[in-house]
Amino acid sequence: MQPAELNLARYNVSLDSETDFAGWRGAARRLALGEVRPEDISWHVASDPDQSRSDLPAIPAGAQLVVPRDFIEHAETAFCHSDPTRFAFLYRLLWRLRTEPKLLAIASDPDTRRLEAMEKAVRRDSHKMHAFVRFRKIGDGADERYVAWFEPDHFIVERNADFFVRRFTGMRWTILTPYASADWDGERLAIGPGAAKGDAPDQDDTEALWRTYFENIFNPARLKVKAMQKEMPKKYWRNLPEASLIPGLIAGADKAAKDMIAKMPTKPAPHHAKVQAKHWPKREPTQTSEDDNAGSISELREAAKGCRRCPLWRDATQAVFGEGPDNARVIFVGEQPGDQEDLAGKPFVGPAGKVFDAILDEAGVDRQKVYVTNAVKHFKFEPRGKRRIHSKPNAGEVQACRWWIDREFALIKPELAVALGATAALSLLGKAIPVTKMRGQVIEREDGLRVFITIHPSFILRIHEPADKEAERERFLADMREVKRLMAA
Ligand code: URA
Repeated sequence: MQPAELNLARYNVSLDSETDFAGWRGAARRLALGEVRPEDISWHVASDPDQSRSDLPAIPAGAQLVVPRDFIEHAETAFCHSDPTRFAFLYRLLWRLRTEPKLLAIASDPDTRRLEAMEKAVRRDSHKMHAFVRFRKIGDGADERYVAWFEPDHFIVERNADFFVRRFTGMRWTILTPYASADWDGERLAIGPGAAKGDAPDQDDTEALWRTYFENIFNPARLKVKAMQKEMPKKYWRNLPEASLIPGLIAGADKAAKDMIAKMPTKPAPHHAKVQAKHWPKREPTQTSEDDNAGSISELREAAKGCRRCPLWRDATQAVFGEGPDNARVIFVGEQPGDQEDLAGKPFVGPAGKVFDAILDEAGVDRQKVYVTNAVKHFKFEPRGKRRIHSKPNAGEVQACRWWIDREFALIKPELAVALGATAALSLLGKAIPVTKMRGQVIEREDGLRVFITIHPSFILRIHEPADKEAERERFLADMREVKRLMAA
C-alpha cells in the first residue's frame, strides 16, 4: 500500500474543487519552499470546502521558488485533466523543475511526455466542446434562452466558458455538464454545479435548421467514414440534431457522388503565361515552438488546434486545417475558412466550396487527389445580430499563419501551388499581387515552387448579373483546366 492510502503523509492538502488551480498553486508553492517531498503529501478535493483545511509548512524567511515561466501555463491546462492523480503528478514536476529547469524540453522524459499527453487531451476535449455544443431554445420573448447539454471527458467548462461568452454574447445561455454548468445572462458569467441530462431540453425548432445545414455541407464525394467518426466520435451524436441523418447519408453517399459527377458538363482549354519572380523576400517563421516537432500533416493538424499565433482563435470555433493527401502534387490555397467551414472544421465546404468543387470536377481535377488549405486557419468575422459576417484577414494575421502554411508545404512538397485570390497570393509570395491582372500566370518562387494565380471562387458568387457571372465562371474553369495541364506536365 502507498503511504497516501494509509494516510501516513505528513501533509494533507484539501482543494476546494476539481478545478481549484489557484488553491493547488498556492499550496504547491508553500510545500516546495518548505522542502516537502512529493511522497509526503496527500492531495484531496474537499467534500465540503467550508470545512476543509490543509496542513502547510511555514515558509523559511528569504526562501524563493524559481520555476520556468511556462510551467504554470502547462500546469493550468493539465490541471483540467480528469486523472485523479494529477495534483500529485504536477507537484512532482514542480519538485523536479527546481533542480532540472530544462525538464520540459526533454521530450523523452516520461513526466514531460505525460504532461504533454494530458494537455493534448484537454485541448482536444475543448475543441470538441467548441464544435459539438448544441443549444436548444426554451421560452420566448423576454424569457427566451438557450440551453445545451454536453459531456466533456475532462474538467473544461470553466476554461471554455469565455469562448461561448464571446461567441454568443447576445444570447442568454446555459451549458449543463455532469460536473459543472456555465450560465451567461447577457452580462454576467456564473459557474454552478453539475446537472443531469434530463435537465436540458432535447428538442426545439432549430433542430430542422441544423439538419438542413448538415445535409447541405455534406459532400458525398468526399466521404471518409473513419475520418468522420474520428472527428465526430459517436459519443457526441446523441446531442447533435444532425446526427440522425448520418447513417442515411453514409449509406446513400456512393450513389449521390456518382450522380453529382454525372451532372458535370465539360468545356475547352485556355492559355497560360509564365512569369519569373526575381526579388523575393526571405520568409522566417514568426516564432519557433514545440509545434515544430510535427512530422506529419496529421500531427501538424493536431498542433494547429492549439494555435495562438494571432488573436483570431478566440472567436473561431476551431482551426480549420488543410485537407487532402500528404503526398499531393498540388496545393490549393484559399483565404480563410468561412462560417460553414468554421463549424464543420473542413476547408471549402460552404457556398464557395460548392462552386470550387463543381468547377474542379468540370476541369477534370480530382479534389481527392489535391490538398486544399487556407492562408489563415481561423474564421475572422464581425457579429451582426445572430449572423457572422466574413471579415478579410489583415497582413499581420496572414503573416502569423504563414508558420502553418510553410510547414504544410514543407511536409507535402507539392510541385505546384494554386493561389485562390489575393490573400493566398500574399501568403505564398510575400507581397501583394494584382490578381485580376495576373490570373492564369505562374510565378516561380526562389525555392522553385511554382505558384499559379487565380481568383477566389467566392468572387463568382458575389457577381449578380447572370451573364457576367457565367463569364467569370468560364474564366475560372479555364484557369482550373490550366492547373490540370500543369499538374500533368
Ligand atoms: N473561402 C476560403 O478561402 N476558404 C474556405 O475554406 C472557405 C471559403
